[in-house]
Amino acid sequence: MVSMEKRIFDKLRKLVYQKSGISLGVHKEALVTSRVGKRMRKLGMDDFESYLEHLVADQSGQEVVQLLDVISTNVTHFFREARHFDVLADLLRHWSGQGQSRFRLWCSAASSGEEPYTIAMIMREVLDNGADAKLLATDISTRVLEEARAGVYEDGHMEKIPQQLLKKYFNKRGGTGKGLWEVRQTLKQLITFGRLNLSVFPYALKGPLDVIFCRNVMIYFDNDMRSRVLANMHKLLKPGGYLIVGHAESLTGLVSEFEHVSPSVYVKA
Ligand SMILES: C[S@@+](CC[C@H](N)C(=O)[O-])C[C@H]1O[C@@H](n2cnc3c(N)ncnc32)[C@H](O)[C@@H]1O
Repeated sequence: MVSMEKRIFDKLRKLVYQKSGISLGVHKEALVTSRVGKRMRKLGMDDFESYLEHLVADQSGQEVVQLLDVISTNVTHFFREARHFDVLADLLRHWSGQGQSRFRLWCSAASSGEEPYTIAMIMREVLDNGADAKLLATDISTRVLEEARAGVYEDGHMEKIPQQLLKKYFNKRGGTGKGLWEVRQTLKQLITFGRLNLSVFPYALKGPLDVIFCRNVMIYFDNDMRSRVLANMHKLLKPGGYLIVGHAESLTGLVSEFEHVSPSVYVKA
């Protein structure tokens, strides 16, 4: 594969930024070249210029999703950064104790579903059966959303789930080969999955929300995009609503109206 000229790499960076908010580092040229080459081979294309034209012409947003799938990571797991789920459980308990019975949560970079299903387990464990509780789980990638909707995971993915929750919320699928676990309806019923691009404002979502999870996605954004994401999330939260970000994503230095509660946990005052 011929190397990507700088001019073309710059155009690609610009396009990826416009369409997804993701900032590709200037030093990523080699990695991106090889990954984009993979995508081009699939499409039967052999020059970068035509690929860029194809990307610009695509109004559906599908090609940028395909591109992001080859250049970015969807890595996630159940109970990732587990402390956040203790924070969530405490909050839901506290609000329930105050008589709240309607709960609206949003998981904004849901990837293949491990994060929203973890949130849903906590909701089921803490909230009364009669509570009016809903979780919206969104991502830019339609591919990961399909996996999330299916809710079927291999044995190796289940290690972080406490045994008692695993038994309660998943069915083991029979058959030979790798063991598979399927999410039970009781969790699925809480969640609506949908595509949402965090770099397109304002978000087509109705507030007020109680909690937003926005973890391990802002690392790909620059500070300007992060500030805009935060402002839009701030608008959607109720006063006293919480924003939970990834441990590596402190908001220090960003323009934001949130108050810091504990590492990576913020509240709308
Ligand atoms: C590394 S995963 C993090 C998944 C999960 N939040 C976690 O912490 O385990 C990042 C996810 O962000 C999604 N993503 C990237 N850019 C996005 C955007 N502009 N809007 C919405 N989701 C985006 C990716 O498709 C991917 O699934």
